[in-house]
Amino acid sequence: MKASESLRLAWFFARLGVKERVAPRLHVRPLVAELFLTENCNLRCISCNCWRENTQQELTTDEWKSVLRQLAALRIYKANFTGGEPLIRPDAIELLGYAHGQGVEHLHLNTNGIRLTPSVTSDVLDAGVRSFNISVDGPTGLVHDRIRGRLGAFDTTMTHLRHLIEFREQYDLKVRMNFTVMQANVEYLPKIAKLAQELQVRLYLNLATDSTFLFRADEVGEQKKVENAQLEQALAELEDVLREDSRWLPRYSDLRYMRGHFSDLLQKDLPCAESQLKLMIHSRGEIGGCWGHDPKANIRVTPIADLIDSEPYRDEHEKLFRKDCVGCGSNYSLNLRWRPSSYAQDLLWKAGRRSLAKG
Ligand SMILES: C[S@@+](CC[C@H](N)C(=O)[O-])C[C@H]1O[C@@H](n2cnc3c(N)ncnc32)[C@H](O)[C@@H]1O
Ligand code: SF4
Ligand code: SF4
Repeated sequence: MKASESLRLAWFFARLGVKERVAPRLHVRPLVAELFLTENCNLRCISCNCWRENTQQELTTDEWKSVLRQLAALRIYKANFTGGEPLIRPDAIELLGYAHGQGVEHLHLNTNGIRLTPSVTSDVLDAGVRSFNISVDGPTGLVHDRIRGRLGAFDTTMTHLRHLIEFREQYDLKVRMNFTVMQANVEYLPKIAKLAQELQVRLYLNLATDSTFLFRADEVGEQKKVENAQLEQALAELEDVLREDSRWLPRYSDLRYMRGHFSDLLQKDLPCAESQLKLMIHSRGEIGGCWGHDPKANIRVTPIADLIDSEPYRDEHEKLFRKDCVGCGSNYSLNLRWRPSSYAQDLLWKAGRRSLAKG
């Protein structure tokens, strides 16, 4: 990371510190854009609502290009391309390349990996993407395919993930494996940790929720009901793996947060930096809000610069920061990362003075 970028990030978090303690109405502009290129999908995950509806009238290529020009003009630091499944859009590569051409320096892609064939991988890398989250919801085809609703999904995704990893050094790639912890796979936490270590990719644990706009469905509500005894058992085993070798795995403080998530979705003592960092742009142009709160504006009507400096946006973001919200647990790891106390917890854990069993 360049020194100027580190400074920008440090300034952003310093301002959040001021917002938390001294000036709750301080306006902190978002640095990262979360772009839901499409809310449709080629899989049928039991934890997700995207595939249950056919979202129509999504932004056209030209409309997305206008969004990307506006984001570049606002000096957005990073664009996350996600969905739904972003790679099902025929113009996905074109839009990635366009973002890069406009000067959005950091491009990130969230994908289920199904369409990330060697040829698409090469196009995506040429377009300038250097950071990837690939979703793997189980350590075997049996678990992953059942959750993802398609036989053979695990084999395809793993083949594509292994191929992507081959380019890691050449392009200095950041590749993460995203595992969404839910009722159907909680017991496989230790095994997915081992798989991440075998592949040498960082493991990120998403925490199942049905409050995020993409996941609001009854069946998803079932998946967020993770039994305490099962969770404790999986965490105890995961902690053993972590004590043996912590490389590529989540930090102790992340796991501690995860344990709380299934009984206390809000965990209100931890402010939501995620809602301040990210500007959400949905596939039909709705803009603003956060993962759990729907936007009220639309880029088809309001230019992005006007929206993020408007009073309603600032009012809403004041509330979201202090978690006057429905709660969702999205990117809890970021929320923890700027808290010195989380590093203290990790150090105590390393010294053997904390454990997931003892709290
Ligand atoms: C909505 S998907 C979009 C990108 C792509 N389709 C994929 O699956 O990676 C983004 C992430 O959300 C995760 N996810 C799915 N259902 C979830 C839920 N109910 N709660 C939290 N995260 C969930 C997915 O596993 C994935 O890692
Ligand atoms: S989690 Fe991703 S792959 Fe699964 S249905 Fe949702 S958008 Fe599609
Ligand atoms: S925790 Fe609350 S404020 Fe943060 S993204 Fe989720 S719903 Fe929004």
